[in-house]
Amino acid sequence: MAKFPVTLSRFIIEQQTAYPEATGEFSVLLTQIGLVGKLIAHDLRRAGLIDVLGTTGETNVQGEVVKRLDMIANDTFLRVFEHSGLVCVLASEEMEKPIQLPQHWPKGKYMLLFDPLDGSSNTDVNMPLGAIFSILKHDGRGRLPAEAELFRKGTEQVAAGYLLFGSSTMLVFSVGQRVHGFTLDPSIGEYLLSHENIRIPKKGKVYAANEGNYHRWLPGTQKYVDALKVNDKAAGRPYSARYSGCLVADVHRILLGGGIYLYPGEIDKPEGKLRLLYEANPMAMVVEHAGGKASTGTERILDLEPKALHQRVPLIIGSAEDVEQAEASIQGRA
Ligand code: AHG
Ligand code: MN
Ligand code: MN
Ligand code: MN
Repeated sequence: MAKFPVTLSRFIIEQQTAYPEATGEFSVLLTQIGLVGKLIAHDLRRAGLIDVLGTTGETNVQGEVVKRLDMIANDTFLRVFEHSGLVCVLASEEMEKPIQLPQHWPKGKYMLLFDPLDGSSNTDVNMPLGAIFSILKHDGRGRLPAEAELFRKGTEQVAAGYLLFGSSTMLVFSVGQRVHGFTLDPSIGEYLLSHENIRIPKKGKVYAANEGNYHRWLPGTQKYVDALKVNDKAAGRPYSARYSGCLVADVHRILLGGGIYLYPGEIDKPEGKLRLLYEANPMAMVVEHAGGKASTGTERILDLEPKALHQRVPLIIGSAEDVEQAEASIQGRA
């Protein structure tokens, strides 16, 4: 008899037995993230036909032009979670301030931070997109958390992961140790386990970076990327360049096949572009729990003490040996 597919719900319930203290809330929360993925995928798969492309004409707190699909994805997260009774606060790349749920709405002990649509430059050209989520636990029962209570180190995340809207829709997450990937079967509307216990290779042969910024990189970064392109078969060089403009898609490739993604600090922007709380931290948790590394170039991402909701950090993430080599070059040790 064919092996019965492992659905997301079944997997979470089985995981729950490994975490006796885990309540059903956590399982429902991850299932709701799956629902958000189905709803966003439903829009993206027909985006060219349902008048959702283009921009809203607004500029967000990041100083970015907001795409209509950024807002649609943001609203999808809000609609699914504000009545879920699972969370007490929602924070997003697209909202200047966190949303405190109205007093009379059901609340839960989780704090959800998210990038509702990652890779927005890809929306109108049918290229890969993602969504990233980070889950923290609020210990002040009942009392609503102040914004500063969201500024928790990445090591304090109870779960983190991403949705990848690529040739298929995937949900990849870690709830504390291992990393698992589920693929949405649209014909039955279920996420089925497709990548159990993902382990990233110690070293890869792919690098992802926007080399259009090369002239703004610091010398150590330039030296590292230059070395990746030297024709030295013995050293496994050159690496292949693969860059999609979507952090989730580029890191997912590297998570499965090995390599390194860099969005480094720049001469006039030492903090880089990517946001710590809802991009770097969740992606770092996933990659570290798969055996990889995530660094600013000088510090471990997950150890950083956040100071602001939309704080940016340089991100060097991927196979452990590749990240270590990049760090050595950036720190002038190689
Ligand atoms: P977002 O679309 O959520 O603002 O994130 C975009 C990020 C990341 O997804 C991607 O790797 C990077 O910005 C692309 O930046 P450049 O266009 O500067 O390369
Ligand atoms: Mn993003
Ligand atoms: Mn985004
Ligand atoms: Mn953006």
